[in-house]
Amino acid sequence: MTKQMNIGLLGFGTVGTGVLQIIQDHQDKLAHQLGCGVSIKKILVNDLNKERQVKVTPEQLTLDPQEVLDNPDIDVIVEVMGGIEDARSYIRHALENGKHVITANKDLMAVHGSELLQLADKQGCDLFYEASVAGGIPILRTLVEGLASDRITKIMGIVNGTTNYILTKMTKEGRLFDEVLQEAQALGYAESDPTADVEGLDAARKISILGTLGFSMNLDLDDVSVKGITKVTTQDLNYADQLGYTMKLVGIANRSGDKVEVSVQPTLIPHEHPLASVDDEYNAVYVYGEAVGETMFYGPGAGQLPTATAIVSDLVEVLKNKRLGVNGNSVVIPQFNKKLQTDDEIFSKYFLRIHAKDVPGTFSVLTTLFDEQGVSLEKILQVPLNQGKLAEIILVTHAVTKKNYETVIEKLNDIDVVVEVKSSYRVEGEMKK
Ligand code: NAP
Ligand code: HSE
Repeated sequence: MTKQMNIGLLGFGTVGTGVLQIIQDHQDKLAHQLGCGVSIKKILVNDLNKERQVKVTPEQLTLDPQEVLDNPDIDVIVEVMGGIEDARSYIRHALENGKHVITANKDLMAVHGSELLQLADKQGCDLFYEASVAGGIPILRTLVEGLASDRITKIMGIVNGTTNYILTKMTKEGRLFDEVLQEAQALGYAESDPTADVEGLDAARKISILGTLGFSMNLDLDDVSVKGITKVTTQDLNYADQLGYTMKLVGIANRSGDKVEVSVQPTLIPHEHPLASVDDEYNAVYVYGEAVGETMFYGPGAGQLPTATAIVSDLVEVLKNKRLGVNGNSVVIPQFNKKLQTDDEIFSKYFLRIHAKDVPGTFSVLTTLFDEQGVSLEKILQVPLNQGKLAEIILVTHAVTKKNYETVIEKLNDIDVVVEVKSSYRVEGEMKK
């Protein structure tokens, strides 16, 4: 039996440092589980002189990717450098050299996952990426293995810690978006450029990975309709609360028959739904399976040690496969061809806030417009504004097609009694498909 497994790290920042720390701290457990020791042989970095949080020898660090990727003593490559092009070419190089790969890189896997998994399959190598979605929650393995016997029809994920932190502080403490974003950056939850967090792109990458695995269908990032949280106001959050909802940025993947819909948007969730109580930087993934019913997986979605835990778990899997001689068998080619729902097949409820003239007949004009598009209303709230000259009207619809709802919004913008459509959000968590 091999007495030592050598790992090559690409990147030694927040996550890379955590990986080294967990491997050092858990040597006995790893040796017990795997029957061999595990050591970090080489680490690719940008800057050899940078001060590091944990002790490494100068020989372990390198600026030359080939010293890691072509090193015959290295069995497994762990990519934790981030970015797309370099990471993609290094992972390809590693797989072509017959090395197993673990990555935390959701940006890369959301765009090039299918290509890299096919290469891993061809090379008989493992390629695992548990850390790429919801950090410390083992959700990818849960979808692929734990729920393998079921048919999953719905996944709803709070999969971005930064936006969940911002929405929680805005809702519970009435604080302003910009101020809380800065705090999330200082706490290390946000990406270096937080645009991907607040505009929903980070969550879109993660829900496309979850949907691909959950529905066994190759979903691309372009298939995800994306809306971020930058336009959410405290008024929206307060009205949502009054009507019984909590706002969360939710990645939604729905399957109906053989067609799917994938989206990310600020979403109103009923207070009593388990996702509504997922606060601060925490993540949670709600999965509905036809046989199992409702399940939810909760935990830290980012951070040094939670993310590193997922990587080291992947490492244990690779090394166990190695002992059993079954590496490369884990790549599951999607069972189904992609079929996306059209806008007249996507059903949802919506929250709508408008400013309208407070004059006789306003409601009649509005209800006629809703009737014409087959949109019926479940909840209505009206608040006088500007000494009674304006009415703030907040509505929650019953389930309606996306197409009809968007027609209503277009027409509302054109009618005289409506001064402004202030906001509109999807409402989820009441219908199980
Ligand atoms: P990070 O702190 O910025 O660290 C990146 C590391 O990679 C640094 O050590 C840097 O070297 C090195 N590096 C970057 N580009 C390089 C290049 N072209 N050549 C050589 N070295 C390079 O990033 P991180 O937060 O650890 O994130 C790493 C990955 O994990 C990303 O894909 C991220 O999306 C993913 N992830 C992170 C978290 C989290 O909580 N941080 C959670 C889930 C997933 P220097 O140290 O010399 O600058
Ligand atoms: N910026 C990401 C987040 C980090 O806030 O969830 C984890 O992927």
